[in-house]
Amino acid sequence: MEKMDAESSGHVDWHEGKISGAVYHGGEDLQRLIVSAFERYSVSNPLHPDVFPAVRKMEAEIVSMCLKMYNNPNGAGVTTSGGTESIIMAVKTYRDWARATKGITEPEIVVPISAHAAFDKGAAYLKIKVHTIPVDPVTRQVDVKRVSRAINANTIMIVGSAVNFPDGCQDDIVALGKLASKHKVGLHVDCCLGSFIMPFLEEAGFPVEPFDFRVEGVTSISCDTHKYGFAPKGNSVIMYRDAELRRFQYYVNPNWVGGVYASPSIAGSRPGALIAGTWAALQYMGHSGYLESCRTIVSAAKTIAHRIKTEIPELRVLGQPPASVVAFASQHADLNVHEVGDAMSKKGWHLNAITNPAALHIAVTRLTVPMVDNLIADLKDAVRVAKLAPSGKGTMVTLYGLGQSSPVGSTLVGHVAAAFLDTLYKA
Ligand SMILES: Cc1ncc(COP(=O)(O)O)c(C=O)c1O
Repeated sequence: MEKMDAESSGHVDWHEGKISGAVYHGGEDLQRLIVSAFERYSVSNPLHPDVFPAVRKMEAEIVSMCLKMYNNPNGAGVTTSGGTESIIMAVKTYRDWARATKGITEPEIVVPISAHAAFDKGAAYLKIKVHTIPVDPVTRQVDVKRVSRAINANTIMIVGSAVNFPDGCQDDIVALGKLASKHKVGLHVDCCLGSFIMPFLEEAGFPVEPFDFRVEGVTSISCDTHKYGFAPKGNSVIMYRDAELRRFQYYVNPNWVGGVYASPSIAGSRPGALIAGTWAALQYMGHSGYLESCRTIVSAAKTIAHRIKTEIPELRVLGQPPASVVAFASQHADLNVHEVGDAMSKKGWHLNAITNPAALHIAVTRLTVPMVDNLIADLKDAVRVAKLAPSGKGTMVTLYGLGQSSPVGSTLVGHVAAAFLDTLYKA
C-alpha cells in the first residue's frame, strides 16, 4: 500500500482541505472508532440476522434515528450502499406501488433538471420515462408550474431536492407537496447531500424552508449518512412515510430452490461492518455533534457566498443556497468561469464544474472550513488570471465546451466518459 500511495503522489491530497465535498471527515477520533467497528464486524452480514443480531439492531437504529431527524418517527426505511442506491430504490418502490394500486404499466417521473443523475440512472435501469423540468434562473428552484403540466395519468412520482448537487439550492417542497397530494403521486425529497445539515439548520439559527416529512405530500426522503453524517463510505438511508410504502421496495421470492429469498434492497449480502461503522459515527456525533458541525460548515458556506458577492464583482452566486454548497458563475461574457476553475486547479483546488449555466461549486466540509480565507484569495487571483490571459482551453473547458457546442459533442463526450471508466479497471 505504501508503494501504491507513493505511485499516486502528485495527485490531489484531500488532507489539505482544498476539495469540494468528496471527503466527509468527522475527525481522527471518529476515524479510529469507525476502524475498530470494522474490525469487530468485518465478517458480519445483515442478510443473516440470526447470526448477526447486533448488526440487525444497529441497522434498525440507524434508520430510526434518521426518521426522527426528519420528523417521521413512525415511518419506515432501510439502509443502502449510498445516495444512488437510495434513489434507485425509491424509483423502484413508486413503480411497483403505482402498478399495484393504480395499474400503471408505463410509468413516468417528473424530475428537476437540477436533481441528481441517480434519478435518470434509476429510470434507465427500470425503463421509466423521465420528464426533465427546468429551474428558475434566479431562484434555481424547479419551475412548479411546469412540474404541474408534466404530471399525467402515468406519473408515479415527482422529485424535489433539499439541497441539490449543482448549486446547493432547495426546491419549493411545500408547493411540490401540494401537487403530489392533489394528483396522488409520490414526492421524493432528495436530502442525500443535505443529509445531516438540513435537519439542524433551524436549531443552528439559519433560515430554512420546510423540506421534511412535516410537509404534506412528502412520501419519501433519501439521506446520506456517508456524507455529513460522517459515516464510512457506503451507507445511506431511504425513508418512507409509512411501512406500507416500504413494502414495495422489497424483493421476495418464496419459490426459490435455495429457500424463501427476501431482501430489502439491491444487494443480497451486505457489509455489516459499514452498518456498525455508521452506527458508531451516529452515536459518537450525537445531536450536539451534528448541530455543531452544521453551525461550523454552514457558517463557512455563508461566509464564502457573502465574500464572493461583496469582494469579487466578476462572479455571482447562484440562488440562495441554504446549506453547505455555494455555486458561482461569471457576471461577464469575457470571463469563462471554467477557466477560473482551471486556474484554481493549478493552485491545488478541486472544485466541481457545472453547466447550464457554466459555474463552479464548492461543497464545504469540515476539511474546507479552515480554508475559507485561502479560497477567497485564490479565487480572486484565479479570476485575474482567467481575465487577463484567457487560454480558451484547459481540461474543464475542453470537455464541457465539446459537450455543449457541437451536435456530436455529447455523444463524443459519452464515448470519452465510457473509455475513462474502462481505464479505471486497468490493473
Ligand atoms: C443531491 C445528491 N443526491 C444524490 C447523490 C448521490 O449520492 P452517492 O454518490 O452517494 O450515490 C449526491 C451525491 O453527491 C447528491 O449530491
